[in-house]
Amino acid sequence: MQLNVPNKVNIVEVGPRDGLQNEKQVLTAGDKVELINALSECGMNHIEAGSFVSPKWVPQMANSEEVLRAITRTDGVIYSALTPNMRGYEGAFKAKADSVAVFASASEAFSQKNINCSIADSIARFKDVIAQAKKDNIPVRGYVSCVLGCPYEGEVSMSEVLSVTKTLLELGCYEVSLGDTIGVGTAGKTHSLLNLLLSQIPANKLALHCHDTYGQALANVLIGLQQGIATFDSSVAGLGGCPYAKGASGNLASEDLIYMLTNMNIETGINLKKLAVVGNNISTKLNRHNQAKSGIALRS
Ligand code: HMG
Ligand code: MG
Repeated sequence: MQLNVPNKVNIVEVGPRDGLQNEKQVLTAGDKVELINALSECGMNHIEAGSFVSPKWVPQMANSEEVLRAITRTDGVIYSALTPNMRGYEGAFKAKADSVAVFASASEAFSQKNINCSIADSIARFKDVIAQAKKDNIPVRGYVSCVLGCPYEGEVSMSEVLSVTKTLLELGCYEVSLGDTIGVGTAGKTHSLLNLLLSQIPANKLALHCHDTYGQALANVLIGLQQGIATFDSSVAGLGGCPYAKGASGNLASEDLIYMLTNMNIETGINLKKLAVVGNNISTKLNRHNQAKSGIALRS
């Protein structure tokens, strides 16, 4: 069967942020630095290294500044961080993040629970962040959460997803990552959502960020690939979840994503064997079950 898919894909490794933000055990800055350095040695060229949010809300990310300052920077690798407001942006800038990300939601209830403000208020905050980042020459990525369902509201309107996504792009985000925050998306729904978004937004402005709660993430990625999406977020060992989305399991495991892509002859630039070792090591360190099936299979 001949599949019409991109021949090269960008991976955004979100394990050190989205993964670790929801692990019970808070890793020391030293352990995080070791993880991030190991990920770059596998060929990851965009690593979300931390977030500059309230340590009262997400204590797991409190040492992000120390982490960003201590990593060994590899040429060509983007080390990025989440920044919900100007205070966060200033922290990330001081710590020399190469790129920052603002994160909105397509669900009002999730916006309130996650960042304590309405969608409209969050956009107003992001305007300031994006304007300052532009002056500083720092690229800004956008996220939209709950694109395929919300833990509080259930169904989320696709036209709201479209509207928030377009707003973030118009404000100056170089790309918007579509977050299936609680992993409820399935192939048909993903296809319908992308059909709508791609009728107004070029595929190279969109990324898919799938959580794997119901084991549907790879199927959704395949739908995205067939619709021309070429950037996917994933997390080594399938770490994590979201502290404000009860029941959300980790992101799609990077190892499983790369196994699929490599075997479809899609270039990622990532060494899967090395990555599997990193995934097994971090799972052992966190005393948790490795969520990457390919990571387990490659262990022996
Ligand atoms: P707030 O309470 O509304 O803000 O929080 P505030 O301005 O009233 O400040 C309250 C306190 O937070 C003050 O400290 C501020 O100084 C402090 P206090 O006086 O109480 O000691 N503060 C900060 N501290 C550090 N860094 C900052 C900062 N800003 C204020 N940047 C805020 C608003 C957004 C800060 C808060 O709600 C928060 O930190 N939320 C955490 C959000 C978060 O990290 N969620 C997880 C990431 S999103 C996600 O996982 C989804 C994604 O993966 C995509 C997907 O899957 O869908 C991206
Ligand atoms: Mg997420």
